[in-house]
Amino acid sequence: MDPQSVERTAGRALKVMAIFGTRPEAIKMAPLVKQLESDPRFEASCCVTAQHRQMLDGVLEIFHLKPQFDLDIMEQRQTLSTITSKCLLGLERVLAQVRPDLVLVHGDTSTTFAGALAAFYQKIAVGHVEAGLRTHDRYSPFPEEMNRSLVGRLADLHFCPTGSNQANLSAEGITQGVYITGNTVIDALRTTVVEDYSFATDALNHIDYAQKKVVLVTCHRRENYGAPMEQIMSALRTLALRHPEIEVIYPVHLSPVVQEVAHRHLDGLANVHLVSPLMADEMHNLMARSYLVMTDSGGLQEEAPALGKPVLVLRQETERPEAVEAGTVRIAGVQTETILAMAEQLLTSPESYREMAHAVNPYGDGQACRRIAQAILYEFGRMDCPPEPFQAEN
Ligand code: UD1
Ligand code: UDP
Repeated sequence: MDPQSVERTAGRALKVMAIFGTRPEAIKMAPLVKQLESDPRFEASCCVTAQHRQMLDGVLEIFHLKPQFDLDIMEQRQTLSTITSKCLLGLERVLAQVRPDLVLVHGDTSTTFAGALAAFYQKIAVGHVEAGLRTHDRYSPFPEEMNRSLVGRLADLHFCPTGSNQANLSAEGITQGVYITGNTVIDALRTTVVEDYSFATDALNHIDYAQKKVVLVTCHRRENYGAPMEQIMSALRTLALRHPEIEVIYPVHLSPVVQEVAHRHLDGLANVHLVSPLMADEMHNLMARSYLVMTDSGGLQEEAPALGKPVLVLRQETERPEAVEAGTVRIAGVQTETILAMAEQLLTSPESYREMAHAVNPYGDGQACRRIAQAILYEFGRMDCPPEPFQAEN
């Protein structure tokens, strides 16, 4: 952090504003906001863009977060330009009013990019949580790969979940203010998964988890819209028809594009349950009771390995290679036949299943928020040493 910022803030609490807008950002920012709120050395505040409305509100409720500012920007079938421009205009006003010492943004959404840019326009320092993830393909995931690269350029502080994320930044010449913290989602997961859990979505209380193999599915990425999503849904349909021993549980993203294709392919199958998006605690507890996860989600690729659940990634690449290397996540791609073959192998070969179904924690140890708070204090001259870096177990 530059010496002027350290001097300007000396002797008072640091004003830190978290800006987020979608479900995954909220889940991963919630424990960090709580951490900052509990520490008198910070004056924490929250501004939500509400790029997601219902899916964001569910997270705010579960984690008891009450944002001071809510831009309420969501529109049905919103475009990338409308999200970014509405965020920028709303944030200009909020940042001018609050003048935080540091803005925190998370990940790679349009809110993330607009949040970092809006702060930069007012010369407010930016901390990027979940920094350094890359596929090195600017169109996949789209637009996330570009968003996170641009935020990497805009940010002053970079909180990388893993060592390989740090290496990605280093290769781009970003070496100052970089910390390896673990991913805050593992902090969140530690508060949500419990033994005797009862689901608010009643259909989930009637699944026979002991006898049936639950296949948990999510799918929402923009680069999968069109032919890839058709192929994925077709694979799921065939899988369900061929395997009465499985129950496919698919909480369908509220995007009208996704809703249409999911219902067209999967309605009317006895062992497929298309349910509304789940609350974060429901999702985590359902995952803990599942046999297999099939997803194009980033967050699920981080959570499932911690719970010992194999993941087939419904994409052509991933920016999260750590669990692939650990053997619990495989890239299944977006072709019907390949997806089917990989899923059926896990359903029919106990040996293949055992190889993938072991808990690994390459993404965190539940201490990411503490490390991020400590790194901020260190950067602003409030602590003598930086936090110890997160190191994954071998
Ligand atoms: C966004 C992020 C993506 C992230 C995903 C998490 C961008 C460009 N994309 O994608 O990186 O992985 O969130 O889920 O930032 N909708 C509702 N209610 C909601 C949420 C969405 O109705 O609570 C509908 C709206 O019609 C909205 C559409 O879904 O226009 C798409 O939402 P949007 O945020 O644009 O894209 P996501 O696919 O959710
Ligand atoms: N999630 C949830 N309910 C759902 C689907 C996902 O709470 O119905 C959670 C999931 O556990 C993870 C996060 O949302 O923490 C991932 O969000 P999403 O897949 O929408 O976005 P991505 O991670 O791909 O950006």
